[in-house]
Amino acid sequence: MRAWLFTSWVFFACAEGGPFTQPIALHDKVDAEGNELKGTRETLSVEQLNEGHGVFMRYCYACHGEKGDGHGPSSLAMRPPPRNFALGQFKFTGSGYGDLPVDSALKRTIRRGLHGTPMAAWDLPPRQLDAVVAYIKSLSARWKEEGVKPELQVTADPWVGKPKDEAVAMGRRVFHVAVGGAGCSGCHASFEPKAVLEKLHEAATGKKPESFPEGRYETSLKSSSYASAEALVRRVSGCDAQLWEKPVDVDALNVQVNGQLVDRDTAHKNGWDFVEVPRVPVAGVQVPAAPLPTLRFFGAACEVLTKDSEASITAAQTLKLSPPSFLFHRLKTVWPLGTWVKDEAGRRVEYTEAMQREDLYRTIGAGIGGAAMPGWKGVLEEEQLWALVYYVQFLAQKRGTPEALNVRASMNE
Ligand code: HEC
Ligand code: HEC
Repeated sequence: MRAWLFTSWVFFACAEGGPFTQPIALHDKVDAEGNELKGTRETLSVEQLNEGHGVFMRYCYACHGEKGDGHGPSSLAMRPPPRNFALGQFKFTGSGYGDLPVDSALKRTIRRGLHGTPMAAWDLPPRQLDAVVAYIKSLSARWKEEGVKPELQVTADPWVGKPKDEAVAMGRRVFHVAVGGAGCSGCHASFEPKAVLEKLHEAATGKKPESFPEGRYETSLKSSSYASAEALVRRVSGCDAQLWEKPVDVDALNVQVNGQLVDRDTAHKNGWDFVEVPRVPVAGVQVPAAPLPTLRFFGAACEVLTKDSEASITAAQTLKLSPPSFLFHRLKTVWPLGTWVKDEAGRRVEYTEAMQREDLYRTIGAGIGGAAMPGWKGVLEEEQLWALVYYVQFLAQKRGTPEALNVRASMNE
């Protein structure tokens, strides 16, 4: 799965041609409040885009698909599904929840992969990494319409030089109690026995809780805004969208025209309509024998579609994500201590406790875009945010050890 250096010569040959003939100007960057910073716009050059397309087609296409819609040939039934870059939506933005990702975040994801998912680490030379990042930005109109916000600042750790136990203790409280804290356990489940939870609540609220929720040690699936991998996506040009898989209810689809999501209401307001009509076989295209519908676009939508534009269709059904249990699940942005990972400069370094905390700070601070996991930077005090980092690290470092089972057993006390 790894991209080895020796293949890089191929790109100098490939980069010559490619689908791009025009540079792409992105939106000006914005400050933290969303004000435009004039003159900071990034322009993606034709050479870079074509090189990025080459890299993408070689290493990323199998899962993410040529147009980056997440429907490459290997993507079927993949969990979690490969990201659909056409939606311009990212989990690890390195900025704020739901923002466009900063370059350093995209590069970190590509260099290191997402631990425990099919998204592996890609050992690309810097030039190819820059190029593939540029190509990703060409795949959604969002990059042209919206500015990238500043990178989330990892502040100095206020717990350095203090006993770690104190940080963990504060993190334990902030994690489990919403009053004066965050109440992360509402989604992530609790990790402490009832007696401890009682004390934590009492300390924060001045009184013992009347009762505890039944399923406090179990996480439940949370809705995300990502489409499920079973989504049937076919790009279309012209007025027909062919659905090659099982027929579905038209209302259970997300229809995008030129990158814009068009639901039934919007379509009707625009005088558009989607109508399912029986599919007429197309010469030279292998289709299964089952009676498959064609989704036909009517009205203005059809005109939009015939002008060299494209539409895509995904099932509107969204993917539910499980908040991880830190004792038992691998975290996507955090590696086991001692793993060799690449740093910002692309150097191979041994993953340390401090690096693990920095990664946790970034993920907890920014939240996980499109998933139910909100961002906590600016919501909590820095001391609390860092304390949570220590507590999650304390739990995550027990993963895979007999101690994790002991902690689990103590929760039933
Ligand atoms: C074997 C399948 C596979 C291949 C090959 C692959 N990816 Fe991914 N990629 C995934 C999956 C699955 C996810 C979603 C993980 C998740 O949602 O937790 C993902 C997510 C991503 C994300 C989104 C991160 C975010 O913050 O939302 C980026 C960026 C990305 N991949 C880039 C690439 C690039 C660039 C390549 C090629 C160099 C590549 N991927 C190759 C499977 C793959
Ligand atoms: C509303 C529900 C919700 C709340 C509240 C919530 N989370 Fe999450 N969290 C999630 C979900 C869902 C995921 C999994 C997302 C994914 O893997 O795509 C997640 C993932 C995570 C991860 C894993 C990141 C990784 O690298 O895989 C960490 C760490 C985390 N949450 C910490 C916290 C902390 C600390 C708090 C409290 C400050 C918190 N969460 C509050 C829903 C929530």
